[in-house]
Amino acid sequence: MSSINVDVSLNGSLRNADTLCDMAEIEEIDFSRIFDRPPRPLNMDRQRSCDERSLSELSTGLPIPSPRPSSRVENNFRLIDHLNCFPSPGRRSGFNTPLSQFGVETHPTVADAWEALRRSLVYFRGEPVGTIAALDNSEEQVNYDQVFVRDFVPSALAFLMNGEPEIVKNFILKTLRLQSWEKKIDRFQLGEGVMPASFKVLHDPVTNNETLMADFGESAIGRVAPVDSGFWWIFLLRAYTKSTGDISLAEKPECQKGMRLILSLCLSEGFDTFPTLLCADGCCMVDRRMGVYGYPIEIQALFFMALRCALLLLKQDEEGNEFVERITKRLHALSFHMRSYYWIDLKQLNDIYRYKTEEYSHTAVNKFNVIPDSLPEWIFDFMPVRGGYFIGNVSPARMDFRWFCLGNCIAILSSLATPEQSTAIMDLIESRWEELVGEMPLKVIYPAIESHEWRIVTGCDPKNTRWSYHNGGSWPVLLWLLTAACIKTGRPQIARRAIELAEARLIKDNWPEYYDGKLGRFIGKQARKFQTWSIAGYLVAKMMLEDPSHLGTVALEEDKQMKPTIRRSSSWTF
Ligand code: GLC
Repeated sequence: MSSINVDVSLNGSLRNADTLCDMAEIEEIDFSRIFDRPPRPLNMDRQRSCDERSLSELSTGLPIPSPRPSSRVENNFRLIDHLNCFPSPGRRSGFNTPLSQFGVETHPTVADAWEALRRSLVYFRGEPVGTIAALDNSEEQVNYDQVFVRDFVPSALAFLMNGEPEIVKNFILKTLRLQSWEKKIDRFQLGEGVMPASFKVLHDPVTNNETLMADFGESAIGRVAPVDSGFWWIFLLRAYTKSTGDISLAEKPECQKGMRLILSLCLSEGFDTFPTLLCADGCCMVDRRMGVYGYPIEIQALFFMALRCALLLLKQDEEGNEFVERITKRLHALSFHMRSYYWIDLKQLNDIYRYKTEEYSHTAVNKFNVIPDSLPEWIFDFMPVRGGYFIGNVSPARMDFRWFCLGNCIAILSSLATPEQSTAIMDLIESRWEELVGEMPLKVIYPAIESHEWRIVTGCDPKNTRWSYHNGGSWPVLLWLLTAACIKTGRPQIARRAIELAEARLIKDNWPEYYDGKLGRFIGKQARKFQTWSIAGYLVAKMMLEDPSHLGTVALEEDKQMKPTIRRSSSWTF
């Protein structure tokens, strides 16, 4: 049996009637109100589900009263309680056990995936510490023989959901040790908190000794900065704590310090006029030049998620408290900024289309002086009547209207998106299925950039040609994010459809890294086979769909104190 509870209060419904566990319908459950909360040193409350202390609670120390859950809610809660049995996680894998938890026969792809995932394990001095990026021996390795922090996330979730937390703990502790290395690129010393992009285990046959070798961007193609690594690390620490109920890892002084170092980097004061985090190109999953510099949604959503996770994990001691206050302020500003300026739907698009420019002073409507002529042609057809999403980037006179899958899914999971916005994002995915899912889930970015724009934006990158790789390619790893977002918004049937598409091909194609083409029909030009996060992403998606209570490991409930004060989108009210 698996981890904690399901976070379902967000959009008011989690429709699970058609899931395997047939959890009936669960509505309006605020799990934070279901458990009593004993005082404890960490902010993460084991007794609460995947919720969090609200910002106002942090400042007042008092929980906010909430209405008593309905009897239906209580019934459902009992069911979840029965399913969940905190804190002992379940052990069931397609590898060890061909039957699923509910006695339904496991899909053959699941058994194959577990086998492949276990083959990808990397050991350090006898202990599993991560998974290799790809086990494809037929291709030139480049750095695919390393354990990437971001790639390990779905592997970690798969192991956690399968009741095997040790490897996750080992990974968290090993990467923490790497963080404390002195990091230099040429003569430039990197920030203390920087987490590596990847590491590998070196074996010395003479001394028979193993050492770790980390890459903080100094060997990476293009010398890109792994801004997302630290955020994923905090996310994983919370996922581990949530899933196992073991708070001792997060409470370790070295983990607390590691978190504070990451936070120091991203909360430091600078010249910025926005609460978003300024980044160089290639700083996240899209780790090549793709015009993702400035304030990309991928990083802002992860930043928001990491801040909220840190708030749960930081000890309220002298050092921790200082950060709690800074995080709280930043979260307020960040959520307002993102929800107001990154959000687009038909109404907002029409407003931008009619924007006046050169507005001065506080009364300006077009705050960033976006020139309507810069609106790309494709967006007028792409924007459905119903639905919306967070655009890729906002900065002076620049809006990147491209769709980024990871950022939008993380926005749903972290509750950066309001419940209405989350619903609108799912509506968009449904109405633009062909474009965003096609024949293989899911497009990392939509649409592709071509011709002159491709030359300028990518620097003529032959790997990122149109509808390939990061430039409109389809990445199976994104399945777990979509599935989690579907469960959170009460639309598991969308995930089921996407999983079926993937299932029809992944084994046959040997688990490629990505697919190419407008519909994702072709195995990617340079895609690695046996790409671990394609394998793990599929497993996590399957496990979540089978047992939605896993959602609590990866999602956070909405913080009522960050409810938006403005409502300007027609699609929100549908
Ligand atoms: C590619 C991906 C990156 C991933 C790496 C290893 O560079 O863009 O996100 O971490 O491969 O799989």
